[in-house]
Formats: sequence, C-alpha cells, structure tokens
Amino acid sequence: MASTTSAYRITDLFAERARNIAPPTYGTELTKIISVSFAYGLADPILFPHADLAAASAAVLAKEAPIALNYGPPSAQLYEQIILRLQAKGITADRDRLIIGYGSGQILGLLPDVFVEPGDVVIVEGPTFLGVVSRFVQAGARVITIPVDEMGMDVDALEETLSDFKKQGIRPRFIYTIPTFHNPTGATMPLFRRQKLLGLAAEYGVLVVEDDAYGDLRFQGETVPSLASLDKEGWVLYVSTFSKIIAPGIRLGWACGDPAIIERLAMFKSEGPVGPFVSHVVARYCATGKLDYHIQELIAYYNHKCNLLLEAIAHEFPSDVVALRPGGGFFVWCKLPPNISAQALLTAANEHGVSFLPGTRCYANGQGDDAIRLAFSFQTTEKILEGIALLGAVLRGWG
Ligand SMILES: Cc1ncc(COP(=O)(O)O)c(C=O)c1O
Repeated sequence: MASTTSAYRITDLFAERARNIAPPTYGTELTKIISVSFAYGLADPILFPHADLAAASAAVLAKEAPIALNYGPPSAQLYEQIILRLQAKGITADRDRLIIGYGSGQILGLLPDVFVEPGDVVIVEGPTFLGVVSRFVQAGARVITIPVDEMGMDVDALEETLSDFKKQGIRPRFIYTIPTFHNPTGATMPLFRRQKLLGLAAEYGVLVVEDDAYGDLRFQGETVPSLASLDKEGWVLYVSTFSKIIAPGIRLGWACGDPAIIERLAMFKSEGPVGPFVSHVVARYCATGKLDYHIQELIAYYNHKCNLLLEAIAHEFPSDVVALRPGGGFFVWCKLPPNISAQALLTAANEHGVSFLPGTRCYANGQGDDAIRLAFSFQTTEKILEGIALLGAVLRGWG
C-alpha cells in the first residue's frame, strides 16, 4: 500500500452504499480443486453458433464497417428483430417501448435508479436470482421476500403482503419475478397465478418486472403466456436476453414496457446504448432466421443434460433429497432433508471436488440452507455423471 502523509483515508470518501457493500463470496470452492462445478448457470460453449456469428461478423465488416465500427447508435435492425420476436410472443412492442442494454442484468440493475428511494419497498421471490436483487439491496430498497413453490411465486402470500402494506399506507415500487423456468427452482407459474398476479398489480398499483431470461428454453409442457402478453393495463415491464439463446459474451438484453419507464431507464444508462458492432452482428444473425432453429438445438441438448442429471440423482442421492424437475431452463433445485445444511454440504462436497450453489445464495432474507441449486447447462454429460456420483457419495455418508 502507498504510504501517505495525509490524515484522511480515501475510503472515507465512499458513499454509504459503497462503504457497506460486501464483496462477492464464492464459498470455499475457489481454494479447492473443483473437478465438477454445478454452481454457475453458464451456457455450454459447444452450443455457441460460432460459424453463423463468424459469417455475420464478416458481412458487417465487409458492408457496414463505417457505421458499425464508429461511435453511434445500435443497429436499427436489431431493434426490429427484437420487436418481431416480442410480437411473436403476443407482447406489445415498438421502438418507444424497447431499450437494449449490455445484458438484461444491466437493465434490471438500473431499476432502482428509476424507482427506488432508500427505504422504498421492493418485492422479490424467495428464492430468487440474487445477482439482480443485490442491486436493489445496495440501492437501499427494503426488499420483501414472497415464497416460491413448484408453481412459482405464492400469489396468495403476495396478496396478504400487498394488503398489509396498503393498510400502512405503503405502495411497493415493483415486484421482481421470474415466472418461467425460475432461477433457481426451475418452476413455472401457471396461468391462474399469472392472472391473479396481474390483477393484484392493477389493484395495488405496483409494477411487475417479468424476468424471462430462460423462457425460450422449454423442454416439456405447454407454453404459458408471458405476464407481458397477458397484461392489458400496462403494469408489466418485460425483460429478456440473448445470453441463454445465443451467447452471454455478446452482452445483449432488453426491456419492453411503458415508454415512460423506457425513457427514464435510457437516461440512467449513462454510457448510452450498446456497442454498434455487436448489435450489427447479432441483427444480421437474427435476420438469417437461423436463431429459431438454433433454439430448437439448444432445447434438445439441454433437455438431454437435464434428464441425465435427474436420472443420476435418482440413482445416487438418498431418497429424502427431493429434486424438482424443471420444464426448461438451466437448473435443478434440490430440497435437502432437515439434518443437512446446504452450507455444510458445500464444504464437504468441495473436499471431494464438486461444487454447487447453496440455497442461501438465492435468498435476500438469509433463508435457503435447506436447498441447493445444480446447474446442468455447462457441464459435459460425463462430468454431470461424475459430479452427481461424487455428491451422492457425500450425501449418503452424511451424519
Ligand atoms: C434470471 C436471470 N436474469 C437475468 C440474468 C442476466 O443475464 P444477462 O445479463 O446475461 O442478460 C440471468 C443470468 O444468469 C438470470 O439467471
């Protein structure tokens, strides 16, 4: 550290929210040699559409380099392609209702700038995707957790919470939900719950933020309409991404909703829209019509890996570990028996070279030591079998 003659410390200059921020915790796994990690929902690199992205990049460099490589707005064709995809899902979409960002995570992270004063109530699911919810916490939101079961958010519990707040004269700012192939539980909210949720949003005047990161990756069951497509009164902000269907490294996500929200999100997106080059490349790729075929390939492959993981769990895990079968997405959520702590299991599993996300890292309120999340998306089929065998041995030897 540099020596200083000053009586002051730089860190005292930090804003309250930067002073109190906790560094990310990765558990013990980084100090151990992990042979199989089920911890993170990474895409499988085997499935990246390398050749098509290379062809689109070459075409952009040959034909659009003067604009794609200069300062400037994203490709107008990318807006068009995203609008077409949204409209095909029955979502009202046009240029004024759409913002594109560096991943959906970036846009979700801007929500507090638009909606939250310190102490304002924001409602989230428990468990949820903490990567986003931690931004709400950092912004000083009073984050309230509504339980999730195998049908997604418990909307009756939500109704009670909204009614209690109303009695106290409090109007929550927004409800953050992942209704389809939920991260981490894999659950999908059925239509009747979606309708009730929308009714509550209108009755209590609360925005619903629908995070549909995994919605295109359905392995089984009928498509359930998105909240945004069911919403007739404008209470839903729909957020999605190319990360799970093209590649996370392209960093392109979007939000679609009330133009007044979109306009303000854009104002707080201080670096401007997304990079022109990547936007031109992805627009060209989408315009070939190949993305929908690619999504079908992804579905087949992820479905295979998910089935393999579940079969391996059925063979290797004690029967009192209950795995939820997802209808799509990247994750299997396992409920542990009462005598096993997810944190303690992680420590023991790390000793055997295997890792996962403990449920505690999926709750904003400290719960979750009774469950673990296994991401099947990234590992090879061989590694899935190896990892579940290792974890099964740890579980069977427990106690
Ligand atoms: C539920 C959910 N929402 C949003 C994101 C962020 O995705 P991106 O910022 O890559 O678009 C993720 C990433 O894992 C996610 O799981």
